[in-house]
Amino acid sequence: MKHFLSVKDMTAKEIIDLLDMAESFREEGVQITKQVFAANLFFEPSTRTKTSFIVAEKKLGIESLEFDMETSSMKKGESLYDTAKTFEAIGANILVVRHEADDWDEELRDKISIPVVSGGAGKRNHPTQSLLDADTIYQEFGTIKNINIVIAGDIRHSRVAKSNAEMLTKLGANVYFACAPDFQDKSLDYPYITMDEAVEIGDAVMLLRIQHERHDEFSSSTLNYHNDYGLTLEREKKMKDHAIILHPGPVNRGVEIESSLVECDRSRIFKQMNNGVYVRMAVLTTQLLKWGIIDEHHIEKRNDTYGRQSARNIRFAN
Ligand code: CP
Repeated sequence: MKHFLSVKDMTAKEIIDLLDMAESFREEGVQITKQVFAANLFFEPSTRTKTSFIVAEKKLGIESLEFDMETSSMKKGESLYDTAKTFEAIGANILVVRHEADDWDEELRDKISIPVVSGGAGKRNHPTQSLLDADTIYQEFGTIKNINIVIAGDIRHSRVAKSNAEMLTKLGANVYFACAPDFQDKSLDYPYITMDEAVEIGDAVMLLRIQHERHDEFSSSTLNYHNDYGLTLEREKKMKDHAIILHPGPVNRGVEIESSLVECDRSRIFKQMNNGVYVRMAVLTTQLLKWGIIDEHHIEKRNDTYGRQSARNIRFAN
C-alpha cells in the first residue's frame, strides 16, 4: 500500500482528485463515524502544518494523539523508527510525520503497516504544502496549465521549492526560480530569472524565507537581501494586474517580502493556510480509505440540516 510521502509518487490525476475532494469538504463538512486515531509526530517546529493537520482531524472526527518531542522518550534516545512503531502498537491508525532528515521516510516505508503522511522532509519535500499551493492557484485562475509561477528565495535549502516545482509542472504550469546565486540548486532543471523579471512574467510569485537552520555556513547572499532579491514595494507595482503573491510561511517580514505586502490585496498567504486544512482532510481521508481502515459507509455528512446521510456521492480518489 502507498504511503503519502512525496510528489514523485503521485500522478496528475491523483493530485486533481485530492483537490476535488478538498473542495467538496469545504462545501460540505463530513465526519468519520468509526473510531480513528492519528498521531502527529513533529520532530521539527511547525505552526501551520501541525495545527492544520489537527484541525483537519478534528473536523473529520479523528482523535489526535499528542506527541511532544521535548517530553517524549526521544529524550532518552528513542529513534524516529521506534517512536513510529510504538504509536502503531499503541493503536494509532495513521501517522503524520515531519523530520529534519531528507530521507526519514526510507526506514518507515516498508516497516510501518499503517499509512504514513509526510508533514515535511528536510530540504527534500513537503507534499501537502504543494497540494494547498496548487489549490490556491487553481482557485484563482481556474486552471494551473500554462500559468507562470515564480518560486523566489532560498531554493537550495527549501523543501517547498522542490515539491512545488515538481507538482506544479505535473499540472502543466511554467515554473521559474529566482534567487541569489548561493541559493541556486544546480540539480534542478528549471529556468532561473531575476526578481525584476519575476514580477514582470509571474501570474503567481511565491516567496520563500531564507532557511537559516539548514545553512552549514554564513551566506554572503543575505547582505542587502531585501533590495537585491526580495519583493519590494517598487517590484510589487510592476506585477501584472491579476498576479498573486504566495508564501508558504513562516514569513520573515522585511527580508524576502516587504511587510505591508503580506496582507495586500494580491496576497493569498492566509488563504493558503486556510486551504491547508481542506487538502489535509482530503489526504487523511484518502489514505484511510486506500488502506481499508475506513470505507465509504464510515463517512457521513456533517450538516445536521441534511440529517445523517452517506457522503458516497463525493468523488473519492482510488
Ligand atoms: N509552511 C509550513 O510548513 O509552515 P510550518 O513550518 O509552520 O508548518
